[in-house]
Amino acid sequence: MENRLRFHPAPEPQQEDTVTQHGSNSISVIIPTFREAGSLPSLLDRLELLRGSWDLEVVVVDDDSGDGTEELFAARDNAWERLIVRREERGLSSAVLEGIERSTKEIVVVMDADGSHPPESIPDMVLAVQQGADFSLGSRYVPGGSTEDGWGVLRWVNSKIATIMARPFTTVRDPMSGFFCLRRCTVERGETLDPIGYKIGLELIVKCRCVEVAEVPIHFSTRREGESKLTLRVQWEYLLHILNLCRFKYPRLASFVPFALVGLSGIGVYAGLLALLGAIGPSAMADWLRILIAIVLTMTWNFVWDRRLAFWDARGSIISQYAGFMAVCAVPLLVVYAVTWLFSDVTVLPVAGVIGSAIGSAFGLVFNWCGNRWLIFRRS
Ligand code: GDD
Ligand code: MN
Repeated sequence: MENRLRFHPAPEPQQEDTVTQHGSNSISVIIPTFREAGSLPSLLDRLELLRGSWDLEVVVVDDDSGDGTEELFAARDNAWERLIVRREERGLSSAVLEGIERSTKEIVVVMDADGSHPPESIPDMVLAVQQGADFSLGSRYVPGGSTEDGWGVLRWVNSKIATIMARPFTTVRDPMSGFFCLRRCTVERGETLDPIGYKIGLELIVKCRCVEVAEVPIHFSTRREGESKLTLRVQWEYLLHILNLCRFKYPRLASFVPFALVGLSGIGVYAGLLALLGAIGPSAMADWLRILIAIVLTMTWNFVWDRRLAFWDARGSIISQYAGFMAVCAVPLLVVYAVTWLFSDVTVLPVAGVIGSAIGSAFGLVFNWCGNRWLIFRRS
């Protein structure tokens, strides 16, 4: 401990917002908590040791645990340790963002309360940021890093899958880490921070466009007190988080793929509707009318899902979007008709129909998406 501190000599003056040669020496440590009264005292004591060399404040954001956390802070009564209790809201990531917003120092560190993250690694992480990294994190997966035994196979597999899913967004080895450090001004450049789920570190790396990310090896300990809050719901939220990151980083792909899938589903819906109208429609109903009804209903189906899944960010009224969508999609229908008609000269009608719909669908997929994206579902 002592050695490590000597390793990173910080300037002596301990006034507010001291600035060193490398940048600020003042750190806010943000700790989100839910029922961590048992773990907090020893963590706060370990953090206090850092105050010998750093101008450090601690901001604990607790979601109304009611387990003695408030009494603990009242008893300790240290100006550098602040407790924010949220009675309305809940959630790890939003707690972290609120803690960042309400803290004051130039460099921000975020860590768990349960002792998993060693506070003794904070100086290395801060140093990396002072030396120019956009972001630094405590990593289990770089040489020197490790995880305490006792993780069940399930948690391990879970963590691995989650890590792989983050791969398209960052090449960091341990993007799941909740132990990280960055400058306040880096947080501020994140355009649309969405504090869903647990992985606020990943969110900040991607949304704040952090290019240089330093990984400091840590030993990740198993919690000694209380219990993990990693539930099925948290895992579901992670999937939604990944979807949001896709939309942020690969907006065209994240629009086109759902569009193609909805189009595919439309084929099934269309066939089903034709069968249904054949079975229950009045027998006097003309075939062309059945087809027309099936087409309009299928396009409405596509519209509803495309609007939600492919063009989630569009502005404008739903009525004009619907009219525009129908108009754009009518163009490929005309292509189907024209191609079928052209080929009907050289082959029998069913074959011409297959050629027509194949060409029309391929054309339609690209044309409809481009037309809808750029003409109908405009972003703003
Ligand atoms: N305010 C608040 N609100 N804090 C919360 C909430 C909440 O709803 N849920 C969890 N926390 C706090 C916990 O009290 C703890 O301090 C921290 O967030 C992490 O919660 P854990 O329940 O201990 O998480 P974990 O150990 O399962 O998951 C951790 O996995 C990563 C590595 O796999 C993550 O939290 C990461 O930080 C960690 O690096
Ligand atoms: Mn934990």
